[in-house]
Amino acid sequence: MSEEEGQLEARLEEQEEFEPSEEFVSQANVTDEGIYEEFEEDWPGCWEGAADLLDWYEGYDEVLDDSNPPFYKWFTDGKLNVSDNCLDRHLEERGDEVAIEWVGEPTDEENRTFTYEELHREVNEFAAALRDLGVEEDDVVTMYMPMVPELPVAMLACARIGAPHSVVFAGFSAEALATRMNAADSEFLVTCDGYYRRGDALDHLEKANEGLDGVDHDVEATVVVDRLGDDGHGHDLRDGQHDYAELVADHEGAEVEPVHRDAEDMLFLMYTSGTTGKPKGVKHTTAGYLAWAAWTSQAVLDIKPDDTYWCSADIGWITGHSYIVYGPLALGTTSVMYEGTPDYPERDRLWEIVEEYEVDQLYTAPTAIRAFMKWGKQFPEEHDLSSLRLLGTVGEPINPRAWKWYYQHIGNEECPVVDTWWQTETGGMMVTTLPGIKKMKPGSAGPPLPGLDVRIVDTKGEEVEPGRAGYLTVNKPWPGMLRTLYQNDERFVNEYWAEYSDTDSDDPEDWVYFPEDGAKIDEDGYITVLGRVDDVINVSGHRLGTMEIESAIVGVEGVAEAAVVGGDHEMKGEAVYAYVILEDGYEGDDDMRERIVGGVEDSIGPIARPEAVVFTPELPKTRSGKIMRRLLEQIANDEELGDTTTLRNPEIVEDIQTKVERED
Ligand code: WTA
Repeated sequence: MSEEEGQLEARLEEQEEFEPSEEFVSQANVTDEGIYEEFEEDWPGCWEGAADLLDWYEGYDEVLDDSNPPFYKWFTDGKLNVSDNCLDRHLEERGDEVAIEWVGEPTDEENRTFTYEELHREVNEFAAALRDLGVEEDDVVTMYMPMVPELPVAMLACARIGAPHSVVFAGFSAEALATRMNAADSEFLVTCDGYYRRGDALDHLEKANEGLDGVDHDVEATVVVDRLGDDGHGHDLRDGQHDYAELVADHEGAEVEPVHRDAEDMLFLMYTSGTTGKPKGVKHTTAGYLAWAAWTSQAVLDIKPDDTYWCSADIGWITGHSYIVYGPLALGTTSVMYEGTPDYPERDRLWEIVEEYEVDQLYTAPTAIRAFMKWGKQFPEEHDLSSLRLLGTVGEPINPRAWKWYYQHIGNEECPVVDTWWQTETGGMMVTTLPGIKKMKPGSAGPPLPGLDVRIVDTKGEEVEPGRAGYLTVNKPWPGMLRTLYQNDERFVNEYWAEYSDTDSDDPEDWVYFPEDGAKIDEDGYITVLGRVDDVINVSGHRLGTMEIESAIVGVEGVAEAAVVGGDHEMKGEAVYAYVILEDGYEGDDDMRERIVGGVEDSIGPIARPEAVVFTPELPKTRSGKIMRRLLEQIANDEELGDTTTLRNPEIVEDIQTKVERED
């Protein structure tokens, strides 16, 4: 490091606040600081502006119907169609502009570019094909697909005919697919033969077929995209399985009138992990969700139609839904979609793509930034990244060091960094700075967006002093919020509202949304999110339920009991630590360990692989028999242990500690 560089690092290390550059501010979509006050004074009318970003067949009556909390309705009786909003309305002015710039993993493969007109055509053709296969309005269509362009095509085709989609992350296992199809009574599946991962042509259809075998009702039709061509695995399509390309060719030139959907009609389901072993089917609806995705894309990501914008998430997660597909396309911009990983074929792949496509905004995750940091600045330095105007992060807390590295080595100290806190359930961003207005504080996501009432409270619901840790709560509804858990209103109330609301009241003031995150707030109202306070862990930005992993482990022959916690991990943020008790007659050896890891991969997927499997004769339990997870977490993190005297079996703690040390 040169002396000059050393000085710069030292200066950055000390700096706690950063202002957006004048150059950025001069062109930002939102620059009026008054927006916060304005929204507060005109609430919920302030969200009319978000609704105005959309085209409507019929205007709405009321911005918000809060007569039956927490079952809020937004933009009541308005009629619109999401695919019309993401495609048709752009055709006249922007038909020849690129909607999706798809980059495959193999570098010798030609990229696929879809202009708005081309995307519109393919969406229409596939929508017609889906209808012919029997998909009717309100039928849930499951998509089990990696990052291929046919995924957004299928999502938009469903939106066009009013069929909600349920996208299952391609990295999830066959069993996870079956569970989700069963939970949603979904009779249609769109999937593909395989995809590339670090040079290998992975077989995906085998997993999909295995998943289909686990579906407990009739599946009417499956559509298979041929991604791998000659590299494919030679599957013959089964009865009821159709080749995507053939279907589209058979419907060449078809036009499907977008269905007029009610504002509150379901747009999609997304299954996500919660406290219990069963994934939650988060239900998002048409108008509120799209308005939220579009408004936040404009206000926070500063997206303009002429930008080339890139979110490197996977569409199998909510981030990809809101910020690869719906938000950017609603605004008519160019959205980049990349199939592969950042380190293939080399560790500069992302920077090569930024340079080649002159990307304006990059939205990624702290886990990726930690990897970039570890690999070193020489990789971004090989490329011209001067097209970048804004950087964003999402998915987990980002530490100030990683934030500053991103700001300095990717953004060249010119791009504001937005650290955006939100969840599958919130539909879109909730807590973050508005990049043209607010200073940034590395490590803190920032203030709540205008119009949101976020408070950090103690267990009684009283606001905590600045600097003290508490629980994050949202005290007013917002358009992008989930409407319920699919076919389970009761669980919806229990999971998100019961903690801090007076559930007997029909006064919206008495209803508080609890996202199950811990947080603290500073004197300026900036919020630092500390992480989940429920039994959910965050591995590389992926949300996993410890109960789901535990039940996978207990399903392995010879396992009597298991407890899973998140331990700190330098790269992944958190890693899965599994404490396992075996039945008599079984050995805690490598073979057992492998079977346990295999069991987790089969039931959830490789992302949930335990980092450490610790065999123990007992788990630390309270006198009432509850497993002391906090203690297990502290052991995993090699932290000082809290009080262990109240345990039924305090002697086990030391024993486990020794074993964890050996694992590490
Ligand atoms: C965590 C992803 C700190 C949080 C969009 C939340 C974050 C969970 C941040 C939701 C952030 C997300 N800072 N923590 N900027 N963004 N989280 O549903 O714990 O996959 O509850 O949605 O990720 O994960 P989900």
